[in-house]
Amino acid sequence: MNLRETLNYRRSVRVYDPEKEIDPEKVKQCIQQATLAPNSSNMQLWEFYHITSKEVLQKVSNACFDQLAARTAKQMVVFVVRKDLWKKRAHANLNYLQNANIKYADPKREKIGLDYYKKLIPLIYSEFLGIWGYLKYFAFYMAGWFRPIYRQVRKSDMRIVAHKSVGLSAQTFMLSMAELKYDTCPMEGFDSVLIKKALKLPRKAEINMVISCGIRLPEGVYGDRFRIPFDEVYFKM
Ligand SMILES: Cc1cc2nc3c(=O)[nH]c(=O)nc-3n(C[C@H](O)[C@H](O)[C@H](O)COP(=O)(O)O)c2cc1C
Repeated sequence: MNLRETLNYRRSVRVYDPEKEIDPEKVKQCIQQATLAPNSSNMQLWEFYHITSKEVLQKVSNACFDQLAARTAKQMVVFVVRKDLWKKRAHANLNYLQNANIKYADPKREKIGLDYYKKLIPLIYSEFLGIWGYLKYFAFYMAGWFRPIYRQVRKSDMRIVAHKSVGLSAQTFMLSMAELKYDTCPMEGFDSVLIKKALKLPRKAEINMVISCGIRLPEGVYGDRFRIPFDEVYFKM
């Protein structure tokens, strides 16, 4: 399938065929492709929990209120946001930049890149009970009177930043699966406390999405796709 066909093939599937298995290795490969998604500052504040064990599937399905898409799933992938790993990821980027043999068109770019992970990322990601975020916000707000400035610096803003990137990896995963004619359903209808407990995740980890996987039954796709008329959502400036 080409990209357009793959996009059309992907539907949120609510009922999977109980007779058809999917290959965990192929699903793992799709998760690996999900890591190719663009992500904010290349911080990769994500983790992927691939669930194949019947016991854990049962627990996660229960945490997803046993909705059909979860109950009939053959495997699941939980997309997890790890904003708390920002220091480790900034260090990994820094290490990469210091050791990679990058030919910069402008020699200043090298210092800018290093400073980005040494100074700017710690400034943006560091937090102290949310108070530091507000101080940063007002400092950036005032600077914004004089020039364009990045304003998403509060704790709540940074959560959105991290969730956006993980959402893109989830979409990359679903399209990779669709290319193999493997079906998926993204779910945000879940009890995050129960999922974190089932996966033994640390307190600061956040669940972005649970994606159930399997092969569709015809009745697993609820009707034709409905989209708001394109004219209502498309604005050419
Ligand atoms: C963030 C997100 C959360 C969703 N949560 C659920 C869910 O909990 N249960 C469900 O059955 N579908 C869920 N969906 C699927 C949407 O209902 C579905 O994508 C939408 O109706 C469009 O249909 P399509 O995916 O077949 O194009 C979710 C989708 C997204 C992107």
